[in-house]
Amino acid sequence: MAARGGFSSRIGFIAAAAGSAVGLGNIWQFPYVAGQNGGAAFLLIYVFWIFLIGFPIMLGEITLGRSAQANPYGAYKKYGGKVWGLVGLFGILCGIMILSFYNVVSGWAFGYFLETSFGNLLENENHSSFFGEYVSDFTDNLWFSLGFMAITAVIVLQGVKKGIEGSAKILMPALFALLIGIIIYGLTLPGAMEGLKFYLLPDFSLITGATIYSALGQAFFSLSLGMGGLITYGSYLSKKENIVSSATMVAIADTMVAFLAGLMIFPLVFSQGQSPSEGPGLVFVALPGIFQAMGPILGKVVGSSFFLLLCFAALTSTISLLEVAVAYFIDERKWSRKKAVIVMAILIFLIGIPSMLGYGAIQGLTEFIFYEGNSKSFMDLIQDLFSVIALPLGGFLLSIFIATRWTTAKFSEEISLGAENYKGSFLEGFLNIMIKFVCPVVLGFMFVLTVLQKFFNVELF
Ligand code: PHE
Repeated sequence: MAARGGFSSRIGFIAAAAGSAVGLGNIWQFPYVAGQNGGAAFLLIYVFWIFLIGFPIMLGEITLGRSAQANPYGAYKKYGGKVWGLVGLFGILCGIMILSFYNVVSGWAFGYFLETSFGNLLENENHSSFFGEYVSDFTDNLWFSLGFMAITAVIVLQGVKKGIEGSAKILMPALFALLIGIIIYGLTLPGAMEGLKFYLLPDFSLITGATIYSALGQAFFSLSLGMGGLITYGSYLSKKENIVSSATMVAIADTMVAFLAGLMIFPLVFSQGQSPSEGPGLVFVALPGIFQAMGPILGKVVGSSFFLLLCFAALTSTISLLEVAVAYFIDERKWSRKKAVIVMAILIFLIGIPSMLGYGAIQGLTEFIFYEGNSKSFMDLIQDLFSVIALPLGGFLLSIFIATRWTTAKFSEEISLGAENYKGSFLEGFLNIMIKFVCPVVLGFMFVLTVLQKFFNVELF
């Protein structure tokens, strides 16, 4: 078998895995969800889930990947046979479907970056209707998302070391720098302190059962868990590396960026007297108005920096999503990297077209399914099926797989290769209990609740 690609260093792996984790989930989704759910109170619950459930599952994926040296299908099949292989295959399918809509939203970010830098976004009167028209303009969206997929493909084509690791090592520090720059600027604005207060003083009265449960879903999506992305990246990691400390860094980086994204957005939002609970339109509708108010030059600089940052964050995630499918075709079907990247990028782009058309361009896709007087777009449906429902299910199956097939003994053994003191440590005991009992129970419960809520419209709490 041809040698598999691999990361050249620990930092390379951390940058790539943190790049996968840090994405639209942190910068677009986290602030608006936190804004609607009690600010810092939501953050605390989110961090709780990240370390209680996210961290063990993350270690499970990375460790399984490194041990098996294979894509998710190959890894499950190696230790669990063909039937378990299906779980890996389902993960790969989820990656494909998530990328299909994620690339569309990334295309919006890319388009907004271009419109802010070179177009007339900031001269616009009504940002809400601009956004509405923007996402329903099929031609523009087609080009922007095609462009985004092409950039992703070019990077993945370069392979693990040069493409994935090389790009993450540049994009991640750039993202941090832009983030810090905008935060510092935002804090100098009048009204910024109100924003900080809103964000940092927890309001527990807004916390409901539904919040606690949606924070877990958010944590799962944000850490890129449950679809084998980290099995794939783990398979490129050297046996010498300490998985525990690398995973800790990734979890901290991801949480930190989500936290910083809030710190960036709320002072800006409050400085203009806007509502923090704007919802999904927060970055596309509320922020442009704020950039506009800064005046033509400053607005352009801050605005285009912001959308560039959003693109960088999205790009390191689309790279990881594409790599999962690519690794499968290289490992299992013996395709060349070039063939796998080109075929999959085109295919996934095409699968994304109905999602793209479901934001106003075609009525039937915009209101794709109805239930109880509500409608859901095609993109919402794909997102519910392959992300909101499937990722916790993937985590549930992974923990069952480790507990019953691969065994926690093998899991510990693999971790200890790069972490001498791991065996017999408190951490080992903790992780084993989490994987065997707590993760399956919590994630299994989560899966059932999500299905009930999404498809049977059961009011949960
Ligand atoms: N973690 C990414 C984000 O927060 C999304 C993602 C999910 C990427 C699953 C890869 C796999 O935007």
